[in-house]
Amino acid sequence: MKRSEINRLMKTAIAFLEEQSFKLPPFAYWSPSDWRQRGNDANEIRECMLGWDLTDFGSGAFAGVGLIMFTIRNGHNTNPEYSAKPYCEKILIAGDGQVTPMHFHWNKMEDIINRGGGDLAIRLYNSTEDGELSQDDVEVSIDGVLTGVKAGEIVRLKPGESICLPPGLYHEFWGQGTVLIGEVSKVNDDNVDNRFYEEIGRFPEIEEDEEPLYLLFSEYPPAAE
Ligand SMILES: [Fe+2]
Repeated sequence: MKRSEINRLMKTAIAFLEEQSFKLPPFAYWSPSDWRQRGNDANEIRECMLGWDLTDFGSGAFAGVGLIMFTIRNGHNTNPEYSAKPYCEKILIAGDGQVTPMHFHWNKMEDIINRGGGDLAIRLYNSTEDGELSQDDVEVSIDGVLTGVKAGEIVRLKPGESICLPPGLYHEFWGQGTVLIGEVSKVNDDNVDNRFYEEIGRFPEIEEDEEPLYLLFSEYPPAAE
């Protein structure tokens, strides 16, 4: 992805968050030069991978297959300094028809919440032991109500509704209209915890054609002396 496209998408995301009255924490708006001056005091943000996260899943076509995310809080599975926090919260924006491809998590249980905007469509499959899509029925908790869905069936969440996705449950989702999505989960580690059904890139390759507006979480410089 070009940096100019990422900058533009961040601006659009911020406008949508404002429209939905969702506020981001201050570090969302730290510039690259703010980051260069930050010391050890911001280590939690670096280590727990908080902040902007944006990907086209290697599709080269963000509007069709992509997702913009912001990790608001997160623990850490291995760093003892942050491992006392067993939870994570993210905010995500899925565009109209913009797909996050089929995947499950090895370890993370997550609640996916429609926080506003359009409807959120989610397609579900159990996984088989060899990582295939099971044709067995799926049983999930939708806002505390145990619900049976057929393999591959699409669940539609309206604003305010949520679903609990346990580890090993395949899910693919997209917006019907632009949707503000909340995610409340166990600790998140995108480096090791995602099993995509088809092999795809989780992080974008970036072509630097202008200065970054805000850095992605993977781009923070080390703490200044
Ligand atoms: Fe997921």
